[in-house]
Amino acid sequence: MKTDKAVTETKEDLSWYEWLKGLSILIYETIFQKLHSRHLPYPLPLPPLNGINCIVTGSTSGIGLEIARQMAQSGAHLIMAVRNPDAAQEIIKIWSKSNPIDAQIMELDLLSLESVVKFSETYNSKSKPLHLLINNAGIFNIGESQKLSKNGFESHLQVNHLGPALLSILLLPSLQKGSKSRIINVNSLMHCVGFVDTNDMNFIIGARNFTNLKAYSSSKLAQIMFFSELQKRLGLESGVISVICVDPGSVRTNVARKLPKVVQIAYHWIPFLFDALEGSRSAVFAATDDGVLKYCEELRNKGEAESCAYIACNCRPIRPSKEAYNVAVSGLVWEKTLDMIGLRSNAVDKIMEGKQVQCTYEAD
Ligand SMILES: NC(=O)c1ccc[n+]([C@@H]2O[C@H](COP(=O)([O-])OP(=O)(O)OC[C@H]3O[C@@H](n4cnc5c(N)ncnc54)[C@H](OP(=O)(O)O)[C@@H]3O)[C@@H](O)[C@H]2O)c1
Repeated sequence: MKTDKAVTETKEDLSWYEWLKGLSILIYETIFQKLHSRHLPYPLPLPPLNGINCIVTGSTSGIGLEIARQMAQSGAHLIMAVRNPDAAQEIIKIWSKSNPIDAQIMELDLLSLESVVKFSETYNSKSKPLHLLINNAGIFNIGESQKLSKNGFESHLQVNHLGPALLSILLLPSLQKGSKSRIINVNSLMHCVGFVDTNDMNFIIGARNFTNLKAYSSSKLAQIMFFSELQKRLGLESGVISVICVDPGSVRTNVARKLPKVVQIAYHWIPFLFDALEGSRSAVFAATDDGVLKYCEELRNKGEAESCAYIACNCRPIRPSKEAYNVAVSGLVWEKTLDMIGLRSNAVDKIMEGKQVQCTYEAD
């Protein structure tokens, strides 16, 4: 594997060509997403999910709210992993008016690694299988200045990548019990304009100027790279746990809540954007369709799969950006991520063997 130095010597950012290519894919897919998804029913019909335990992070708003509602109304036992339990309580009350649902609330703040550890320990201590982990919660702080978490990490990096990475690894014992289980990451096509500088994933050294766009797109690319490595380490033979990234499309949600009111109103009138229910389709499809598991197995069996499965907003498999297949950078993203979340390089192997691991991140 290349060292850090070798990687930075060959590349310091995406080339203009790759960036423009990524941007044109993004614009094209956004404008034509409704056309490309016209074969999909609205809403997507779900199979009965009785007996399925499903965690949805960030289920108080937008896409996560719709994913969670459909899961619960299809019979799953829903665990709403949220940072605002009161809001979740209100939502459950509203959903329960039409039909009783089986839902519980657990507090999770991805900006705190301590909260992620506490959440995972609480869930694992119940010895309940986990069939679906849907890492949906995310931020895109458009219009804000750079913020670091209490753990010292750039906030997009922590909420969109580090938090879900730690959560997924620590929940592996429960996911193993729920085999064949799935980890679904609500990713973004914005990863196509992302680049991960493994020497400064936090944007604090100053080699790359910070913008929220760069931080968001890099965090989403880092997520694909990390979870592709995780999928490789989870083993080929059994398909015990499948990892799938999805693009929800460009969706009218609260993600733009920090923008000026006028821009927000304009944003809500753009005709080709999805509503949250449309935006939830790729995630609920990836979570429930049998063909998706077969596709993951096909990728694993090829033995050359350098990226985990990726499902587009029209529920069809696609290949993520060329940079997502950069094996050298993915290896470094894996190592640096584990280091940041306080896990040793053999943590996943140990957990899969049923052993305990220590998590020694920077305290909150
Ligand atoms: N909307 C789009 O066009 C679009 C496109 C591509 C990808 N995505 C991705 O889709 C996912 C959902 O976003 P959305 O558009 O539905 O946005 P949203 O309406 O803003 O919902 C985001 C959810 O994440 C939660 N969240 C934020 N920070 C958190 C934290 N520190 N800990 C725990 N939960 C936290 C929010 O909780 P609160 O309600 O408490 O803030 C909210 O429930 C994100 O990963 C986003 O990157 C969105």
